[in-house]
Amino acid sequence: MNRIVSTRGIALLTSVQLLLFSCSRPAEEPNHKSGLITENAMVVSARGEASRIGVEILKKGGNAFDAMMATEMALAVTFPFAGNLGGGGFAVYRMADGEIGSLDYREKAPMAASRDMYLDENGEVIPGLSTQGALASGVPGTIAGIFTAQAKFGKLSPAEILQPVIDLARNGFVVSQQQESRLRGILEVVREVNGEDTFYGKERSAGDTIKNLALAQTLERIAQNGRDEFYKGETAKILVDHLQSLGGIITLEDLESYQAVWREPVVFDYKELRIISMAPPSSGGITIGQILKMVEPFDLKKMGHNSSEYIQVLTEAMRRAYADRNFYLGDPDFVAIPVPELLDDEYLKSRMENYDPNLATKSEDLAEGKVQFAESMETTHYSIMDAEGNALAVTTTLNGAYGSKVYLDELGFFMNNEMDDFSSKAGVPNMFGLIGADANSIAPGKRMLSSMTPTLVERDGELWMILGTPGGSTIITAVAQTILNAYEFDMTMQEAVEAPRFHHQWLPDQILFEEKSLDSSVYRSLSSKNYRIHEGRTPIIGSVDAIMRLPDGKLEGGADPRRENEAAGY
Ligand code: DON
Repeated sequence: MNRIVSTRGIALLTSVQLLLFSCSRPAEEPNHKSGLITENAMVVSARGEASRIGVEILKKGGNAFDAMMATEMALAVTFPFAGNLGGGGFAVYRMADGEIGSLDYREKAPMAASRDMYLDENGEVIPGLSTQGALASGVPGTIAGIFTAQAKFGKLSPAEILQPVIDLARNGFVVSQQQESRLRGILEVVREVNGEDTFYGKERSAGDTIKNLALAQTLERIAQNGRDEFYKGETAKILVDHLQSLGGIITLEDLESYQAVWREPVVFDYKELRIISMAPPSSGGITIGQILKMVEPFDLKKMGHNSSEYIQVLTEAMRRAYADRNFYLGDPDFVAIPVPELLDDEYLKSRMENYDPNLATKSEDLAEGKVQFAESMETTHYSIMDAEGNALAVTTTLNGAYGSKVYLDELGFFMNNEMDDFSSKAGVPNMFGLIGADANSIAPGKRMLSSMTPTLVERDGELWMILGTPGGSTIITAVAQTILNAYEFDMTMQEAVEAPRFHHQWLPDQILFEEKSLDSSVYRSLSSKNYRIHEGRTPIIGSVDAIMRLPDGKLEGGADPRRENEAAGY
């Protein structure tokens, strides 16, 4: 039997049971809290069913890439908030022999998209157009992503992998407490966009079973006909007809020409760690690299976890890194990005030269750094480790909760609103408050800049950690803090995931803290240095799903209790 621990369940376990789970360093030490520990393999995701289906595929002889296909589709069934067929994502892998790589299956702007498509005749952004309804969607990449990854590295047949997911869609999943409130929250908008009779326009309560027969049928066709069913087959035709009837601009040609792209991951060292993360069109790898390298010279351990000094130095690194992110980064197929220059040690040292431990830098006084380069420039994460030692970090999204809210009743899934990740107009913030520049303007066939940061960490040459999170612009800083928690402060995987987090993104010029996470003396100290503090704009920052390989070779899961994440394994 799989050993499953829901994070909410952990709180209810007796100390004796907890001791049974705690059998490795530092989890074996008293007063350390550990997540699920297994011997061989593990999947940590936003839903128990998705983690368990991934593990079932691993037990059947599949590897991490087979489990990716199963887990991703099981999330589309049970976690339509972010799990998807109508969205896109990124996967970073490290094979057991150390080979690394990454796959970009990010959405693309349709060919009929244009730079000013969300502006009115006065050049002002039309509210809602890039976030809600059929015009908000990019061309989906998810099916291309899971098929491309599985075809290259997987061992089982897609039909075999998808069968348990089809059964799940047919037999149904139970609505959780968090799902009840999320579904209620979007009910009116979903009805407004899709009409009263739409599948997710019905009221649902916790404990109800949702059977998504339309999605089961779509998945059956995909299992039979492969990737092309989604991009060229009946599914493609239904999708395009439906979106066009709602004023959308995605065409059959857009779908037919969509390809997932293998990209070189961003790789950098932090002390004795080697970090492998996602390259553009995600800003994740470069930005987390800049942050960690800017704080590397400081003695963080001595400062203490979440001390005022620690928060300050990390905030200043975040501020500088996001100023560069927003200026330089975009789709590498469209803009030249000075990657080595942005990650250069000397450059990053010079970026921190005006750091003043006594006073906050003002974002208005800080622009992007000048680097010389040749002019030529609501999401979900899951982590998988298979029994062969292959590691996979995958983050996938519809962007906002339930994406554009456009629901394809005939196909059983929501469409993304990823177009909002472009900069609709230079200087105007998107829904995450991110301000973009030319590098991330809209163009036909271009991928919008992402913050998704699926990441792998090696320690002493061995795979040590697999992690990532949802959270829009806060993804990068949440992943950075989780790595620092485990490395600098010796936390277990579960502790590193649970520890309170903060965030700064250059503009708006404020440090975000999670609700009730800020000690009053730390607050006073930061305020006295002119830091603007915002507590509780978002009650939580990220929802990290991670796996750590322990010194004895066992695996520890870190499933974030901020959401209903679960680890499963054997
Ligand atoms: O790619 C991005 O950066 C965003 N579309 C991610 C959205 C997200 O994380 C929403 N979840 N809170």
